[in-house]
Amino acid sequence: MKKSALQKARATYQPKLPIALTSGAVKVVEGKPTRSVADQEEIKNLFPNTYGMPDITFEKNPNQTVGKPVNVGVILSGGQAPGGHNVISGLFDGIKRIHRDSRLFGFLMGPAGLIDHNYVELTSAIVDEYRNTGGFDIIGSGRTKLEKKEQFDKGLEILKELDIQALVIIGGDDSNTNAAVLAEYYKSIGAGVQVIGCPKTIDGDLKNAFIETSFGFDTATKVYSEVIGNIQRDCNSSKKYWHFIKLMGRSASHIALECALQTQPNVCIISEEVEAKNMTLQDIVDYIANIVARRAAEGNNYGTVLIPEGLIEFIPAMKRLIQQLNDILAANAAQFAALDPAAQREFLLKNLSEENAAIYASLPEAVARQLSLDRDPHGNVQVSLIETEKLLSEMVGRRLKEMKEEGKYVGKFSPMHHFFGYEGRCADPSNFDADYCYALGYNAACLIEAGLTGYMSSVRNLVKPAIQWTTGGIPITSMMNMERRNGELKPVIQKALVRLDGAPFQRFAAQRDNWAINTCFVYPGPIQYFGPAEVCDQPTMTLRYEHLDK
Ligand code: FBP
Repeated sequence: MKKSALQKARATYQPKLPIALTSGAVKVVEGKPTRSVADQEEIKNLFPNTYGMPDITFEKNPNQTVGKPVNVGVILSGGQAPGGHNVISGLFDGIKRIHRDSRLFGFLMGPAGLIDHNYVELTSAIVDEYRNTGGFDIIGSGRTKLEKKEQFDKGLEILKELDIQALVIIGGDDSNTNAAVLAEYYKSIGAGVQVIGCPKTIDGDLKNAFIETSFGFDTATKVYSEVIGNIQRDCNSSKKYWHFIKLMGRSASHIALECALQTQPNVCIISEEVEAKNMTLQDIVDYIANIVARRAAEGNNYGTVLIPEGLIEFIPAMKRLIQQLNDILAANAAQFAALDPAAQREFLLKNLSEENAAIYASLPEAVARQLSLDRDPHGNVQVSLIETEKLLSEMVGRRLKEMKEEGKYVGKFSPMHHFFGYEGRCADPSNFDADYCYALGYNAACLIEAGLTGYMSSVRNLVKPAIQWTTGGIPITSMMNMERRNGELKPVIQKALVRLDGAPFQRFAAQRDNWAINTCFVYPGPIQYFGPAEVCDQPTMTLRYEHLDK
């Protein structure tokens, strides 16, 4: 692999470790027994072997002990997030600290690697190549759902063959839910394999009282904010375009909110607010069009609009439409696939309810078509394929025309479109993510050494310097509740959406009217890896507002 100058320089970066992890073996301090966030009886019944376990904190251990070699398997699951390689290098160093003969096996291309017995032994020569780099290419990732008993049994065959005593699953809420189910199953049959989860997702929606943030959110939002800042400087220079920028985040709007806090755009839509206020698509269009018109009245025919990727599913009327489309498409898959695009549109308009057909017909044709495209393996609309940024700008353009006729708008509206998602998911991890991920992996090794299963690696106090971070483990069952998935009630980790009463949203809401009309752009610039701590080591504003500057 040909390395860039930055890659070579970053290879020498030594991630900072929390104090408890710096001295070798840790002291395990048990907290109180935990309970699930909701539906305690149901979750307890479904997880009789792993429910109610205590939370764990690690402290520096004055009495050093020599451990036994341990074989560990690791899986990267779901969408890429910056820092995954450092979780693996931290885990590798952590198990080598337990004993130098410990071995790490990586299952290839996500959970499928475990089921299909595709793996590679991760030696120090391999791991060293990937330290502090972005991407998941060390072993690849995938979205196969690990949820059936046959898959668990098939996986156990290879775990036994390689004498693996613990499996670390690095994933988002769904993958960690599956990790908990796997841990329960292996414990129930006395398989002798521990399962530990690590919180990953750029979306930032895997967080709770014990998990302050998922890794990757920091780097991804900094990359997007850099580019949004660049666009804002461009648009403040030429003063002629309105930029509609869609940002990744399948469901929650944490990414859009964080980027708004960092860059102060003219508009940022927050899906959770749209849902709470029962807003229609037209309400959102009117809101943006009014801001465009007010700025135009002052001669400012330019600006930026941030749009969260998942918006469409949070607009109540659109949600109902998508739901019915899902049902129609699932029931008529073969017949639908055989039709040409025009006939498909006719078919849907005929089969949708009157209300849904009217909304479907009102959408720009390209967007309506995107809503009927293939679903992902979980049955979700692939929101990253829906061009919400074009949908909104087109509808805003139409509305502005009407406003012009009504004498309410004088100006020129030239929209430009962007979607930032994949650009940030494999960026070289920021110092924060490099340190956090390394600590998560190293900490996972300590959870393994402590003989625990069904726990998520937890590193906290993240607004403080890394040395002061606290470490330990949280039973995954404590994060669960029952939710309806594909028509069935299932135990799942509760997704953390943007809280409208939370400090990050409140800070945004208090300033957005000013940002809308006055040009208050901030230009964060690129992530810095070398330099003063206030430039290189700052956590996200979301983390700071949630945990520090309340
Ligand atoms: P995870 O939840 O697996 O971390 O993935 C999140 C995400 O990056 C979303 O932001 C985005 O909608 C989705 O993945 C895209 O998925 P894919 O990589 O399959 O295109």
